[in-house]
Amino acid sequence: MAGVTEPRRDGIAYGGYLRRDVPPEDAELTHVGPGTPGGEYLRRFWQPVIFARDLGEVPRRLRIMGEDLVCFRDGRGRVGLLHLHCAHRGTSLEYGLISAEGIRCCYHGWRYDVDGTVLETPGEPAGSRLRERIGQGAYPTLEHGGLIFAYMGPPARRPVFPRYDVYALPGWHLQPAARFELPCNWLQIKDNSMDPVHTSFLHAISSGYQFTEAFGALAELDWEERPYGMIYIATRRIGDLVWVRVADFMAPNVHQFTREIEDATTEKSASRPVVIRWAVPIDDTHTWNMELAQVDPAWKLTPEQVGRPGFGQSDDRSYEERQRHPADFDAQSSQREIAVHALEHLASTDRGVIMLRKIVRDGIRAVAAGRDPRELLRESRGPIRTACQDVVLRLPQEKDPEADQQLLRETGRKVGRGG
Ligand code: FES
Ligand SMILES: [Fe+2]
Repeated sequence: MAGVTEPRRDGIAYGGYLRRDVPPEDAELTHVGPGTPGGEYLRRFWQPVIFARDLGEVPRRLRIMGEDLVCFRDGRGRVGLLHLHCAHRGTSLEYGLISAEGIRCCYHGWRYDVDGTVLETPGEPAGSRLRERIGQGAYPTLEHGGLIFAYMGPPARRPVFPRYDVYALPGWHLQPAARFELPCNWLQIKDNSMDPVHTSFLHAISSGYQFTEAFGALAELDWEERPYGMIYIATRRIGDLVWVRVADFMAPNVHQFTREIEDATTEKSASRPVVIRWAVPIDDTHTWNMELAQVDPAWKLTPEQVGRPGFGQSDDRSYEERQRHPADFDAQSSQREIAVHALEHLASTDRGVIMLRKIVRDGIRAVAAGRDPRELLRESRGPIRTACQDVVLRLPQEKDPEADQQLLRETGRKVGRGG
């Protein structure tokens, strides 16, 4: 029949009818609520919940891993992270009054300390001991680099706070950076962190140069495990120069990358700064990205400038603009609310994604079996040495393309190992 193309390969061409089913997501990896395997795993680690700059005169309502919470800093400067609903009759503590010590529920005046103990039940008769029997759910917090971290796991399993070397590097200031929400599951956001080939396509070849032109060169890719997680190594040939970009994934939901400012036009020994980014689940289908950034004081950036999300990271552009020049927000959040792994066709460039998911799954299963995830720290052994950096070397091109690829891969590995 004229105008109709006959299917050429059974079930492949015009195979829509045969491919309509959408199986469920991988619940073990992606669900984050209390009591879920993935949720219990994430709760074994300190998680950032809010920037210190966002704690002011009124309490802040938060949702973290499906739990409704309230966060505040009391008159003594202590941070409280409590269950949202008052233990008396459930009024939200977002309407509470922050006091010199703790927070007072607006409804009947019960006052809670930052650890959730009841300090006062003012309407009860003098001598009442009711308050001694009651507690408001609370989580321990600590502050680092302008971020408030919380430990939401079983009290007896609280780990030490992991200190990465990038928190204190001479010449750089660690500063709070951006916080922005993505309407999707946390894991696909982290998948992206170990998927360096997308920097050539999404950020250069397919939607126009979003960083530097050097990103448009296809890289030799490599991935390696590290005690804290894993790294990717992306090595690009740019004439007689070779640019090695290394990024870290720190389990369970942190990664760090160099700023996207490398144009690879001159030789450069190991250079940072980095942006450190957590993907903190709000619930199964919403996630906060929260960042700390190394900033050179010579850049003279205001805190507002440092706090602005990078190009295309957040929902700050019009739909049309995002369709014409899609970026990370669009690529990640459009993989469905929760990406369905059973429908994927993983390719050679997805090795990092496969490794990352294995790290997460191994951690989830360790926790389910009553053990610690491999990356969890029980004691502090000094700063954790990470690998993230840009290096540009002069390396004349090998004539044989295969030998050149080999040279790039070896060079990348050496840089990744700190050589
Ligand atoms: S509901 Fe909070 S004090 Fe009564
Ligand atoms: Fe990206």
